[in-house]
Amino acid sequence: MSTATAERTGSHTTSDEALLELDNIGKSYGNVHALRGVNIHVRQGEVTCVLGDNGAGKSTLIKIIAGLHDYTEGTMKINGIVRRFGSPRAAQAAGIATVYQDLALAPLMSVWRNFFLGNEIRRGLGLDIEKMKQICDAELTKMGIAIPDLDRPVGGLSGGQRQCIAIARAIYFGARVIILDEPTAALGVKQSGVVLKYIVAARDAGLGVIFITHNPHHAFLVGNHFIILKLGRVVLDAHRDELTLDQLTAEMAGGQELEELSHELRGVDVDKVVDVKQGERVHVVAPSLDQEELSEVRSEEAEEEK
Ligand SMILES: Nc1ncnc2c1ncn2[C@@H]1O[C@H](COP(=O)(O)OP(=O)(O)OP(=O)(O)O)[C@@H](O)[C@H]1O
Ligand SMILES: [Mg+2]
Repeated sequence: MSTATAERTGSHTTSDEALLELDNIGKSYGNVHALRGVNIHVRQGEVTCVLGDNGAGKSTLIKIIAGLHDYTEGTMKINGIVRRFGSPRAAQAAGIATVYQDLALAPLMSVWRNFFLGNEIRRGLGLDIEKMKQICDAELTKMGIAIPDLDRPVGGLSGGQRQCIAIARAIYFGARVIILDEPTAALGVKQSGVVLKYIVAARDAGLGVIFITHNPHHAFLVGNHFIILKLGRVVLDAHRDELTLDQLTAEMAGGQELEELSHELRGVDVDKVVDVKQGERVHVVAPSLDQEELSEVRSEEAEEEK
């Protein structure tokens, strides 16, 4: 396991070579361009947050890095060497660990079995259960994860605990890049807090952390580097010293688009509440669009169909 020696002060160090480098990556599913021209650099000892709405391409991006899908354009480099993983196992062997939201662990298996899944310690023809339990206990304790009974099936643990065990496992088995797919999406405030602390712990251990989220607030609590994907393209790539939480939130909400939208809706009286007497017939008056607005709507629709 590597340990970051250089303390970061919040600003990025451009001299560091990226651990993972995506250059002009594209991915098509038949006619659907899920990703286009994506450039992302993930550095050791940094939390890189990838934000984006539904359908932005976040999962596609993870699947490429994790070896589940191949890319159709561009290059992916790990430590400066071009790689094309044929399988998730090949990505894992290159030090890339992925924690999927629901599939982080096998729910019916015990904590220690999950910890060693795919990396079991053997003794003779069988498994060295005692040793695995001992290491699992020591590693979880070291990370401050308190699980009283390691024989318990993981399915009985909270979502937050499951995420933390998956992170501890990735660190123990020497991952250099850890990808977390929406780890806080289904969690309450306390559990999210714990998971965010483990994200920081992974960064402090010197890993390159890729934190996928919808939530700019969660991203800004731990992120060093922020990327927003929209319809498969990178629309923002900034380091912490280059933006504020308000800017990140506004960008996520649509930024420029929101401004245009509020311009479109100027003149609407939002304070107005309409009283309708019982039994009175309701008439809806369709909003009138002038020629210019109609042609703008049509050209936007035509653009979408392309
Ligand atoms: N296997 C597939 N076959 C065809 N199209 C796909 C496939 N997987 C994803 N897509 C399309 O690619 C685009 C990006 O999808 P992706 O799942 O990567 O988005 P996402 O950012 O993860 O969204 P969400 O927040 O909903 O998980 C979408 O238009 C989606 O419909
Ligand atoms: Mg997704």
